[in-house]
Amino acid sequence: MKLHHLAAAASHLLLALAATAVAVVTFTATNTASNTTGGQRFDQAVGVAYSTQVLSNASTFICSVVFNQTRPADRKPVAAISLVVADAGGAAAFTSDDTITLNALYVGNYSGGDVKAEVTGVLFHETTHVWQWDGQGQADGGLIEGVADYVRLKAGYAPGEGDRWDQGYDVTARFLDYCDSLEPGFVALLNAKMKDG
Ligand SMILES: *[C@@H]1O[C@H](CO)[C@@H](O)[C@H](O)[C@H]1NC(C)=O
Ligand SMILES: *[C@@H]1O[C@H](CO)[C@@H](O)[C@H](O)[C@H]1NC(C)=O
Ligand SMILES: *[C@@H]1O[C@H](CO)[C@@H](O)[C@H](O)[C@H]1NC(C)=O
Ligand SMILES: *[C@@H]1O[C@H](CO)[C@@H](O)[C@H](O)[C@H]1NC(C)=O
Repeated sequence: MKLHHLAAAASHLLLALAATAVAVVTFTATNTASNTTGGQRFDQAVGVAYSTQVLSNASTFICSVVFNQTRPADRKPVAAISLVVADAGGAAAFTSDDTITLNALYVGNYSGGDVKAEVTGVLFHETTHVWQWDGQGQADGGLIEGVADYVRLKAGYAPGEGDRWDQGYDVTARFLDYCDSLEPGFVALLNAKMKDG
C-alpha cells in the first residue's frame, strides 16, 4: 500500500515536472475554415480542444525528451504556440514563427486512413519547427525537416516513405533514428549544435 502511494506520488511529481518544463507557454487552436468540408472534417474528427492538448504534449515531448533540454536556458524562448486551421492551399501545414497553419484542404482530401492520427503527426512535426534550432537559418533544409519527422516517428505517428538520408522528412528521420540508436542523445546534441551554427 505504502509503495503504491509512493509510486503514485512519484508519477504526479513527474507530471508536474513535465508541466513546468513548458509551463510559461500558452497553447491555442482556432478553426477559421469551419464552413468548408475540410474544416468540418477537422471539427468532427480532431477538434480544437484535442489539438490544443497535442501542441502542449508535443512541446513537452520535444523539449524534455527528444532535445533533452533540462534547463529552460537551453530552450528557444517561446511564449505561445497557436494553431490556425485555414483554407490555405499548398502544403499540408506550415509554421511561421510560433504560428502553425494547418491546411483545411489537406484535411479534407486526406485518404490515408485515420485522419486524427495523421493530424496529430503533422502537429508533432510542425511543433518541432517552433522549438528546433536551425543554425540561424543556415542549416540544411532536409535536415530540419528530418528532425521534425524524427520527432513524429518517436512520438508514434510515423510518416510515409522515401529513400535518401538527406531528402528530408521520413528518410532523414529514419537515418537520425539509426544514429540515435548508435549514440543515444545524438539528435539532442545535433539540435543543440544548430543553436549557433
Ligand atoms: C468561409 O468563411 C470565410 C470567412 O467568413 C469566407 O471568406 C469564405 O469564403 C467561406 N468559405 C466558404 C466555402 O463558404
Ligand atoms: C496529453 O498527455 C496527457 C498526459 O500524459 C494524456 O493524458 C493525454 O491523453 C494527452 N493528450 C493528447 C491529446 O495526446
Ligand atoms: C481537395 O483539394 C482540392 C485542391 O486543393 C480542393 O479544391 C478541394 O476543395 C479539396 N477537397 C476537400 C474536400 O477539401
Ligand atoms: C541529457 O543532458 C544531460 C545534461 O543536461 C546529460 O547529462 C545527459 O547525458 C543527456 N542525456 C542524453 C541521452 O544525451
